[in-house]
Amino acid sequence: MQVRLRILRYDPERDSKPHWEQYTVECEPTAPLLDLLHTVKWQQDGSLTFRRSCAHGVCGSDAMLINGRNRLACKIRVDQLGSRISVAPLPGLKVIKDLVVDMDEFFAKYRSVQPFQVDDGVMPARERRQSPEDRARYDDTTKCILCAACTSSCPSFWAQDTYVGPAAIVNAHRFIFDTRDAGSDERLEILSDADGVWRCRTIFNCTDACPRGINITRAILEVSSAIVERGI
Ligand code: SF4
Ligand code: F3S
Ligand code: FES
Repeated sequence: MQVRLRILRYDPERDSKPHWEQYTVECEPTAPLLDLLHTVKWQQDGSLTFRRSCAHGVCGSDAMLINGRNRLACKIRVDQLGSRISVAPLPGLKVIKDLVVDMDEFFAKYRSVQPFQVDDGVMPARERRQSPEDRARYDDTTKCILCAACTSSCPSFWAQDTYVGPAAIVNAHRFIFDTRDAGSDERLEILSDADGVWRCRTIFNCTDACPRGINITRAILEVSSAIVERGI
C-alpha cells in the first residue's frame, strides 16, 4: 500500500520553528511505522532524525506522537493507522531535532524517587526471599521501559513541568510495595511534596498511552493512599 507520511521537522541550526514535511512511502500493511521512518531516512532524506534501538518494544527509545497519540513507532503497524499518518515529537518536552526530545529532566525525575532497592543494613545469611503473592503486588510496575509516553501525555505535566510525572511514580511504586525494600517511607516523603502525586488529576492519558499496558493511574492512587495511610 501507499502511505502519505507527514513528519514534524525541526533543525535548530536552520529553522526558526517546526514545520511539516510530507513523504510518500510504499509498504506492506503489516509494517511497523518504524520501517517507514527508516525508508524515509535511508532512501529519501538522510537528515531525518529519530531515536530507536531494539525495534521490538523493549528499549523505549522511539516513543513519539503518532496520529495524535503517544506510541512506540516499532510497535504500531500501518494497518492500525491508515494510509495517512502524522508523526511529531513527544509533546511537552524540548525538541532537540526532528523527533528527538530532551530526556534529561525526565531521567532526573526518575532518579529523584530512588528507583533501586534500599536494604535494611542487615546482611542476610541467604538471599532475601519473597512469596509469589508479595511479588505479584508490584508486578505491573516492573514492566516500565522508561519511554516517557505517559509523562509527556499528561495535561498536569504540560501545565506544570516540575510535576514529577507518572513514569517516576510508577518506578517508585515498583519499590514502595516490594517487601524486601527498606526505603519506601523516604520515597513516599519525596512524592508527598508539591510536585509529587497530588498534581495528578486522574486524567488517565498516561494509562491510555502506556505501550506496556501498565495501569498507571491505579499505581498513582495506590502511592497516594500509602502516603495518607502511613501519615506522611
Ligand atoms: Fe513508558 Fe509506560 Fe513506563 Fe510510562 S509507565 S515510561 S508509558 S512504559
Ligand atoms: Fe496525568 Fe495520568 Fe494523573 S494523565 S493527571 S498522571 S492519571
Ligand atoms: Fe526499542 Fe521501539 S525501538 S522500543
